[in-house]
Amino acid sequence: MTSNKSALITGITGQDGAYLSRLLLEKGYEVNGLLARRGSDTLWRLRELGIHEQVKMIDGDLTDLSSLIRAMEQSKATEVYNLGAQSFVGTSWQQPVLTAQVDGVGAINVLEAVRIVNRDARFYQASTSEMFGLIQAEKQDEKTPLYPRSPYGVAKVMAHWATINYRESYNLHASSGILFNHESPLRGIEFVTRKVTHAAASIRLGLQKELRLGNIDAKRDWGFAGDYVEAMWLMLQQDKADDYVVATGVTTTVRDMCEIAFRHLGLNYLDHLVIDPGFFRPAEVEVLLGNPAKAKARLGWAPKTSLEQLITMMVDADIRRLGG
Ligand code: NAP
Ligand code: GDD
Repeated sequence: MTSNKSALITGITGQDGAYLSRLLLEKGYEVNGLLARRGSDTLWRLRELGIHEQVKMIDGDLTDLSSLIRAMEQSKATEVYNLGAQSFVGTSWQQPVLTAQVDGVGAINVLEAVRIVNRDARFYQASTSEMFGLIQAEKQDEKTPLYPRSPYGVAKVMAHWATINYRESYNLHASSGILFNHESPLRGIEFVTRKVTHAAASIRLGLQKELRLGNIDAKRDWGFAGDYVEAMWLMLQQDKADDYVVATGVTTTVRDMCEIAFRHLGLNYLDHLVIDPGFFRPAEVEVLLGNPAKAKARLGWAPKTSLEQLITMMVDADIRRLGG
């Protein structure tokens, strides 16, 4: 299908990049992705969704403004989704400078490319509930003060405020989605949900015996990535740019999430769990719980997938991948 709508997605090879690409292709967009070319099989997610041949890749990196200007010119993008990031919180203590450059300065580079090449293009910033960190309200919404607890959170606060500043300084249609944790079968294996579903499947199939985790009392507001990319698109269809919390409004401990995953395979997680202090973080975000009322009222967005449905979907996908 030909279309006059063209999107540019940074982070197209990541979890959200894959689901957003599929959504935009279904809506008739030309989808362009910034490809950093740093891994050996970076296209696996797009391939799993069967769309790797439908997206156009443009070489570039968030730390290289010239490549972003070229990507804007080449794609003629009318919508720009900045999803690219060093997104693993744990790694941000090992690589704080890189995280700041990619997640903080990188977002400013994309905003600059939009400002220089096409000020009418609409911009989406992948902000995060990690910015709430040491929470200042029981339920976090767009007005809750930020208190980041990791180098990742600090870098994302910079990008979040840069988005607001470009909206106010240059009248760019720049929106920020403050998304709470969202997962899927395409989640990276280092994140706790996928680590758990992959371990449960491996243990069921006799490939692994134990699961080593850190703080299992941490609580997260977990949703399904496929639902959350719809909220990103909806934000860019509004007349006015704004900031929105996207969450389920339900919070669950890592412990209870493990229980769901193992129970689905007839296993008891307590028979396999080992607490490993190596996975504790220097400063922890103990609990996150979002209030998505604004997204519901203004965007008409609501999550469609429960945590039980999400985790069982991920376990089933891991069983399939492991050949069970
Ligand atoms: P992800 O799976 O880790 O994907 C990150 C993407 O960024 C990958 O495509 C990666 O490319 C790319 N990237 C990394 N460094 C780059 C660089 N220097 N230049 C260009 N691209 C680079 O993350 P995700 O879960 O899809 O999350 C998408 C975005 O939403 C991220 O910004 C994340 O911080 C944010 N976020 C995520 C959640 C969540 O729960 N998933 C919640 C709130 C906000 P490679 O494939 O080459 O590594
Ligand atoms: N990854 C991991 N591995 N986390 C563990 C483990 C473990 O072995 N054991 C306990 N946890 C706890 C972490 O300490 C944290 O409290 C919680 O599980 C969730 O960890 P992650 O799945 O790594 O996600 P996150 O909340 O730190 O960050 C994710 O969500 C953010 C939104 O709030 C990432 O997707 C970020 O990019 C995103 O911004």
